[in-house]
Amino acid sequence: MTYKFLNFEKVESTSDEVRNVIFKDPSQDVVVIADMQTRGRGRRGRRWYSPPGNLYFSFSKTPAINPAALGQISLVTGIAVHHVISKLLPSSAQIALKWPNDILVNKMKLGGILIETEQFPGCEYATCIIGIGINITSSPEMVAFPPCALRDYINELPDKDELARNIIDEFNRCYNVWLYDGFEKLRSEWLSLSYGLGKPVSARAENGFEIYGRFLTLSSDGAVVICDDDGNEYLVRSSEITYL
Ligand code: BTN
Repeated sequence: MTYKFLNFEKVESTSDEVRNVIFKDPSQDVVVIADMQTRGRGRRGRRWYSPPGNLYFSFSKTPAINPAALGQISLVTGIAVHHVISKLLPSSAQIALKWPNDILVNKMKLGGILIETEQFPGCEYATCIIGIGINITSSPEMVAFPPCALRDYINELPDKDELARNIIDEFNRCYNVWLYDGFEKLRSEWLSLSYGLGKPVSARAENGFEIYGRFLTLSSDGAVVICDDDGNEYLVRSSEITYL
């Protein structure tokens, strides 16, 4: 799949730009990159501060699959970002994925992934708009984790367009494995790249209860499995897990 790259100096949010392009012409496959965003957003309605110097880009995919599986795209994207960023970092920097979408380096947040779904008129399947932010030169404050930037670890900083292209190429590779072979093919890989396996966590389970336990594993469809002290297992799909 070849995307058309659209570079902007300033947008409200690259994900909104992708949405606008598809709305006008659903056949367009675009990647929108911006030097800065004035209304960048993260998960759960948080702001994503987007000063110049960091990477902000979005693109879309419309997989012909059951909508219940779309949440897995966040994990698929995380694997792709991990593969690309880990090649840039020295071996002393520990890069890891925090479920569902944080890119951590030495337990500090380097980047995040925002997946938004939209049903466009005339399309049979929902479209996922995938937005990725990677701190390159600056580390804006974040809520859940102290932030970091690539500049903290490397002197020769990557070209932003090239970094985005590499992430998209790697994403497409992982996406095809996911689409044709299923998430199970990527599950153990995600676990091997993840942060906090076995650690004590809290989260809101599917039944609405706040639960405390250990991050046991990922289910076959990408939910976090938390095991409490009594051995009960809970699935967490749409919440956030907090390390205790
Ligand atoms: C998170 O960690 O909460 C996700 C952050 C995602 C930020 C990116 S930057 C590019 C794209 N445009 C946005 O407004 N958000 C995403």
